[in-house]
Amino acid sequence: MKSQDIRAKFLNFFEGKQHLIVPSAPMVLKNDPTLMFVNSGMAPFKEYFLGNAEPKKNRIADSQKCLRVSGKHNDLEEVGYDTYHHTLFEMLGNWSFGDYFKKEAIAWAWELLTEVYGIDKDILYVTVFEGSDDADNLKMDAEAYDIWKQYISEDRILKGNKKDNFWEMGDQGPCGPCSEIHVDIRSAEEKAKVDGKSLVNMDHPQVVEIWNLVFMQYNRKANGSLEALPNKHIDTGMGFERLCMVLQGVQSNYDTDVFTPIIREIETITDKDYGKDEKVDVAIRVISDHVRAVAFSIADGQLPSNTGAGYVIRRILRRAVRYGFTFLDKKEPFIYRLVDMLSKKMGNAFPELKAQKQLIENVIKEEETSFLRTLDQGLVLLNRIVEETKGDTVSGDKAFELYDTYGFPIDLTALILSEKNLKLDEKGFEEQLQVQKNRSRAASEISTDDWTVLIDDAEQEFIGYDTLEANVKITRYRKVTSKKDGEMYQLVFNLTPFYAEGGGQVGDKGYLEDINGDVIYILDTKKENNITIHFAKNLPNHLVETHKAVVDAKQRYRTECNHTATHLLHQALREILGEHVEQKGSAVHSKHLRFDFSHFSKLTVDELRDVENFVNARIDGKLPLQENRNVPMDKALDDGAMALFGEKYGDTVRTIRFGQSIELCGGTHVKNTADIWHFKIVSESAVAAGIRRIEAITNDAVKDFYFENNRAYFEMKDLLNNAKEPVKALQNLQAENVDLKKQIESLLKDKAKNIKGELKRELTEINGIQFLAKKLDLDAAGIKDVCFELGSQFDNLFLLFGAENDGKAILSCYISKELVASKSLNAGTIVRELGKYIQGGGGGQPFFATAGGKNPAGIEEALKAAKDYIK
Ligand code: ALA
Repeated sequence: MKSQDIRAKFLNFFEGKQHLIVPSAPMVLKNDPTLMFVNSGMAPFKEYFLGNAEPKKNRIADSQKCLRVSGKHNDLEEVGYDTYHHTLFEMLGNWSFGDYFKKEAIAWAWELLTEVYGIDKDILYVTVFEGSDDADNLKMDAEAYDIWKQYISEDRILKGNKKDNFWEMGDQGPCGPCSEIHVDIRSAEEKAKVDGKSLVNMDHPQVVEIWNLVFMQYNRKANGSLEALPNKHIDTGMGFERLCMVLQGVQSNYDTDVFTPIIREIETITDKDYGKDEKVDVAIRVISDHVRAVAFSIADGQLPSNTGAGYVIRRILRRAVRYGFTFLDKKEPFIYRLVDMLSKKMGNAFPELKAQKQLIENVIKEEETSFLRTLDQGLVLLNRIVEETKGDTVSGDKAFELYDTYGFPIDLTALILSEKNLKLDEKGFEEQLQVQKNRSRAASEISTDDWTVLIDDAEQEFIGYDTLEANVKITRYRKVTSKKDGEMYQLVFNLTPFYAEGGGQVGDKGYLEDINGDVIYILDTKKENNITIHFAKNLPNHLVETHKAVVDAKQRYRTECNHTATHLLHQALREILGEHVEQKGSAVHSKHLRFDFSHFSKLTVDELRDVENFVNARIDGKLPLQENRNVPMDKALDDGAMALFGEKYGDTVRTIRFGQSIELCGGTHVKNTADIWHFKIVSESAVAAGIRRIEAITNDAVKDFYFENNRAYFEMKDLLNNAKEPVKALQNLQAENVDLKKQIESLLKDKAKNIKGELKRELTEINGIQFLAKKLDLDAAGIKDVCFELGSQFDNLFLLFGAENDGKAILSCYISKELVASKSLNAGTIVRELGKYIQGGGGGQPFFATAGGKNPAGIEEALKAAKDYIK
C-alpha cells in the first residue's frame, strides 16, 4: 500500500465514524510560551482539553506535522542512528473532546489496524498503565485492561510504568494514562529465539510502538499536582512513517516510499550507496530526515535564525550539513537540491511545500553555503591549534572556544584530532559547556505560579477595537518570576480594551485604576493560547473590585498608523515588484514598522521611491477604514485577501480594507489613512536568501526624522564654514585628506631610513651579540621594517624596540636566525615575558615577535630587563 493511500484510509475511516477531518495545523506555535513546535497531534487542540475554547466538533481526526527537537520530547540526537526516530514526522490522530472514551477508542483502533489495514493480530501487543505509588498515587487502568481483553489474548496485554504509560504533553497541561499498541515485525526465526513480549519498549528497531491512545483526564498544574479535568477526552497518535513500515513489509522507516525517493536522490548527488557502510547510512538517514524538518518549517514561515525556534531549525540543518561534510565528502551545498523531490512526493498532501519550493531552496542553499564557510574557517583555526599543541591532547578550553565562538562542531573536532593521532580533552570541554549552560539557564529561568481564580469560568471579551477604556473585573492572576524581569504579575480580566501582541502588532500598555484613584501600570499585553494576559509589576490593592482599565491612547494611535501603513506597503510591493511578493513577517511598533517579504533582489532607489510614493498617495487619498469582523473565509479569499502560510485561521475571519488593500487581520487600525500623515522608508536590507526587509516610519516619527536630518545637515554645513555647496566642500576635504596621507607616508619612510643609520651606530656588542634596546617614535609597521633592514646586515643581532601608539605600548623583538639556533633564544618567549611590564601579552616567531599592552610607562623597564638578560 502506498503511503498516500495509508494516510487517506486513516482519514476516511474516522470520517466514517463521524469525525471532522481537518488539515494539519502549522508546526511552529505562536502564543504558547510552554511549547516551541507542535510536538504531537494534540498540541493544536490543547485549549479544547483545558476547556478554554470550543472545538468545531467534538470528534476530529487529522494527520499533523510534528517536530520533536526541543523541550520534553526531543529525539534530535537519535535521528539517523536508528531506523524509526525522526525530527519531523506525521502523527495520525483521532480526538474526542468530552465525547467517546476508552471503549470506542480501543474498538476503533483495533478495527482499523486489523480489519482495514489487515495487520495480523499475532504481531500486535498492547500496554496499559500499571499505576504509580509516587506522589500522584494513581491506580492501575483496569478499565482499559478489561476492554482490551475482548480483542486480544491476555498474554499480549502488558502493564507499563509511568514513563511509558502515562502521557504528559509538557511540564504542565492535560495528561492521562495511555495504552500503546506495538508491532513485532521480526522474522519467524528471530521470534522463535526471543519472545516479542520481552522486547516491547526496549528500543528494538523491529518491535516498535505504532499507536498511542491517551485517555486524558487530568491537568498537571505548575505546582506539580494533578487536577481532574472537567471532561474526559481521547487523544491518539499513530506514527505515520512506522505504520508505513509495517504495511509495506519493510524493516526500517527509511525503506518506505516516504523516504526512498529522497535517499535515491542523495545517492545520485553524492555518488554514495545506501546500505553498504554504516557511517554513510547514518549520514544519509540524517540528511533525508532533516531536509524534511527544515523544508516544512520554512514553508510554515519559520526561517533559520540565531534565536528561538529559528535557532533550532538552523541547528537541524547544520547537523545535516555536518554529516554530509564528514561522511559523504560533500564540501559544497547540496541539501537544497533534495527539495524538488520532496515537494513532488509530499506536495499533494502538504501544498505549502509546492507553493514555497523556490524560497525553501534559496534559504537552505544560503544556510548551507555560510555554514560550509564556517567549517572551512574552523579547519584553519583547528590546524593552528594542532600546531601549537604540545603533547598529545588538545585542551577542552581550546575546543570549546572553537565550538562556542566559531560555531565549529565538537564531534568534527574530535574526528579530525583522532585522524591526526591527537586526543581531545573531552572532560574539559564538557566542563566548559556545563558552565555555559548553567549561565544561560540561570539567565532564562522562569517560575510561574498557578492561577489564583477570583471569578470562575468567566468568558473573556476583547472590546479594544471600539474603545480604549472599560470597567473590568479581574478574573484570575498569578506571579511569574524571572531573572530578566524580576517579579511580575499576570492578570486576566472578564473583558479588556487591551490589544494583546499578535499579527506582528505589539501589545497595548496602559493602567488599571481602582475606585480610590490608585493606579497600577499595565506594561504589556500578550496572548497565551486564547487568553489575554496583562503584565504588571504590582497587584492592585483591592482585587475583587471593579477597576477602570485604560489603554495608552498615544502609543496605540502611533502603532495603528504603522499597522495601516504596513498593509499599504504590502499592497505597494505587490503592485510595484510583482505578485510573487509574499509577507514573511512583520513587526508593528509605536515607533516604527518592519516588513519582511519574498523578493529575489535588492530594491533599487527608484523602486523604493515608487513604493514610498504609492503609500503616500493612499495616505493623501484619505481612504476610510472598512472593517468586517465576521466574513466567511472563502468570501474573504474571493474578495482578494491573502492567507499567510503558517497562520491558523477560523471559518470566519476579520478583514481590513483601505481602498484596494484588503487583508485578513486581527490588529487595530487608524480610522482613515489620512491619520498616518506621512510614510518614510528608513532602510531596505536582506534577511535571508530571497527575503528582503523594509523598515519604515510614519507620522510623528517622520517629523522627528526630518528634524534630526535637517539639524545634522546644518551642523555639517557649519563645520564646513557655511559652504554654499556643502557636498562639494566635503569632497574637496576628502581629496585633500588623501593627498596629505600620501605625503605623511613618504615622510615617514624617509625618517625610518635616517633612523636606521642612527640605530646602527648605537649598537653595542655584549657577549658577542650586537645589541640594542630602545624606545622609538615609529608605528609597529615602521619598527618591523627597521628590524628586518638591520637584520639583513648582521647575523648576531638582538633588538628590542618599544613604542607608544595611541596611548598603548608595543614591544618588538628581533633576533638573528643564527643566534636563535646557536644560543636557543626565542623572541616569542622573550616578548611574552617582557609583556608583563607593559601589562599585556604577545607572541610570534622565534626570530621576530611583538607584544602589546596598556601601560606605556613600563616600556623603559622592559628595555632595561632585556639588557640585563643579554648581559
Ligand atoms: N499525544 C499522544 C502522543 O503523542 C497521542 O503520543
